[in-house]
Amino acid sequence: MGSSEGYEYPKKQRSTTRMKLKVLLLVILTNLLTIYFFAGAPSSFHHDISHYTNALSLPLVSWPNTTTDLLSELVTTRTQLAATRSQLSDLHQRLQVVAGHLGRPNEGGEVDEDGGRRLLESLPEEVRLAVGPHALPLGFSPRSGSASVYPSVGFACLKYKDDLVQYMKYEVGDECPLDDKFAQRLLLKGCEPLPRRRCRPRSPEGYVGPAPLPESLWQIPPDTSIIWEPYTCKSYECLVNRVKQPGFYDCKDCFNLKGREKNRWLSDNGKLDYSIDWVLKTKPPGSIRIGLDIGGGSGTFAARMRERNITIITTSMNLDGPFNSFIASRGLIPLHMSVSQRLPFFQNTLDIVHSMHVLSNWIPNTMLEFTFYDIYRVLRPGGLLWLDHFFCEGPQMNQTYAPMIDKVGFRKIRWSAGMKMDKNRNEWYLSALLEKPMT
Ligand SMILES: *[C@@H]1O[C@H](CO)[C@@H](O)[C@H](O)[C@H]1NC(C)=O
Ligand SMILES: *[C@@H]1O[C@H](CO)[C@@H](O)[C@H](O)[C@H]1NC(C)=O
Ligand SMILES: *[C@@H]1O[C@H](CO)[C@@H](O)[C@H](O)[C@H]1NC(C)=O
Repeated sequence: MGSSEGYEYPKKQRSTTRMKLKVLLLVILTNLLTIYFFAGAPSSFHHDISHYTNALSLPLVSWPNTTTDLLSELVTTRTQLAATRSQLSDLHQRLQVVAGHLGRPNEGGEVDEDGGRRLLESLPEEVRLAVGPHALPLGFSPRSGSASVYPSVGFACLKYKDDLVQYMKYEVGDECPLDDKFAQRLLLKGCEPLPRRRCRPRSPEGYVGPAPLPESLWQIPPDTSIIWEPYTCKSYECLVNRVKQPGFYDCKDCFNLKGREKNRWLSDNGKLDYSIDWVLKTKPPGSIRIGLDIGGGSGTFAARMRERNITIITTSMNLDGPFNSFIASRGLIPLHMSVSQRLPFFQNTLDIVHSMHVLSNWIPNTMLEFTFYDIYRVLRPGGLLWLDHFFCEGPQMNQTYAPMIDKVGFRKIRWSAGMKMDKNRNEWYLSALLEKPMT
């Protein structure tokens, strides 16, 4: 995959644009040809636009003074030609972006700049109110350079119009529908962040306040702390015992705080398992203070860091389990955010970013590259990226991921690759401690 090329346009679209460009160029070139041949142009013409423009510059050195006027005209035309070309490609690019984001909302109709507005106008009022725009009460804001504001909502929401409308169907001021699962599916499809709603989520019956720190870090909260409807399991006991059950669940043993979870990151096996204390020792004492765990399951990494007085925010999805509520009940900060979203931190701020299992080869390469750059952005100079058990297939490691990480600019402090044990295919894990350079 062309990970370095960014989002590519479909080939067909590209070639029709090229055709149009060629026609345009031919018109201009017909006018130029008289001048051109008069001066004794080289006989070969090439297909590519860039060759045309390059060819035009060839005879400049040998032209006699009598054609100085023609020459300068030619140079002007060439400049205009280049400008037209870049305008066209810019236009094309903008069209593609609009088309890509909106899909084809009007069956069979062309997607144009008005498509987005027409689509918005066709939405129920609550959706339009949620996504704005809203005029600023104090008028134009020099800070944002605008007189109105759009509440943040993922552009893909408009691509899943029916789902969006469904999500926004509720009585204003009343209780929200119990649609956690539906909402998260919509979010995972790219409608992220979801629009705000004007309703109240139901409170769990018999809710009791959380346990105090530090005991809360390793305590399973009472079942009355959450609403169980969205999940297959209806109690924490069921979640803890999931590890003994057949079938695949995300983070199958993560709720069992007395099992594997208890020992994670405590010892360093010199291979794929790094210990927290080893990682912290690579930096001056106390200099790792704040960070992020991407896809942190039930929050155990943050709990272990908290015990070392380090504040970690944990992003997690509620994939058939109340991961966010559980992290919060431990006294840690959950962030319900997928890996698609730009990290909500300012650049050069975090001391450490950790991710286990989540950043892996299921993520499209281009997207993953954007993610690595985003992590690089939010890390402070000298900050650490701990890539923990990144999963991929054998050849991908050296062909795709190692070069990608190099390209982003991370410096390798430690790099460990190893075969994945539970399958016999050529599957690999990579653990790495990477550093954002100081300069
Ligand atoms: C060509 O024109 C330039 C300036 O326009 C002049 O300096 C030069 O002497 C001219 N050369 C000939 C061969 O006429
Ligand atoms: C964490 O901070 C507390 C209070 O400042 C302190 O008593 C404790 O020793 C610190 N723990 C570690 C592991 O540094
Ligand atoms: C990647 O390349 C290194 C040498 O640069 C080699 O030792 C290693 O076996 C390769 N890894 C894989 C998974 O092919």
